[in-house]
Amino acid sequence: MARGPKNHKGGASLRPATETIIPTPGFTVRGSAGRGRGLYTEVPRRQGEELFVVEGKVHTGAYDDDAQVGPTWFGAGHQRWVEPAESNLGRFINHACEPNAAVKDFVHVVAAREIHAGEEITIDYALTEEDPFWSMECRCGAPSCRRTIRAAARFGAPQAR
Ligand SMILES: C[S@@+](CC[C@H](N)C(=O)[O-])C[C@H]1O[C@@H](n2cnc3c(N)ncnc32)[C@H](O)[C@@H]1O
Ligand SMILES: [Zn+2]
Repeated sequence: MARGPKNHKGGASLRPATETIIPTPGFTVRGSAGRGRGLYTEVPRRQGEELFVVEGKVHTGAYDDDAQVGPTWFGAGHQRWVEPAESNLGRFINHACEPNAAVKDFVHVVAAREIHAGEEITIDYALTEEDPFWSMECRCGAPSCRRTIRAAARFGAPQAR
């Protein structure tokens, strides 16, 4: 199984030349200050509404400190990730420490509250990534920003899904 580079989820190359963004009605992908691109909703979303399903190649493998997840991989359970397909919106969803979306049953991204048209859709990566070696420096800008994001499971917290 091929694993991503050590500089995972913070890698320099988030925009492979081959990547194709296929338009999805109701969503746009555009710049998100300090965080590369982000996923935005063009229409209001109700709390609990399913926004999209993360689909792509499934990767499994042991956690270790020198072979880690790729920059777009989406934690989907113990030692399991989904690498979103090129057109899948999961490739573009950023982390925020005060997210407006959540992940249910590993791959279903739902609105955690009412989301206004034009808002960026974000999740808490700490609740999807379980790799104890993973960390990411957060630039979400929230007053409550945790700065260094690590898997919540690392601290024995229950997974909020
Ligand atoms: C699934 S991609 C999200 C789309 C990405 N921003 C892009 O431009 O392709 C995950 C990557 O986005 C960046 N990222 C996401 N949330 C971030 C945050 N809150 N602060 C800093 N970088 C973030 C990190 O580089 C992370 O590896
Ligand atoms: Zn943050």
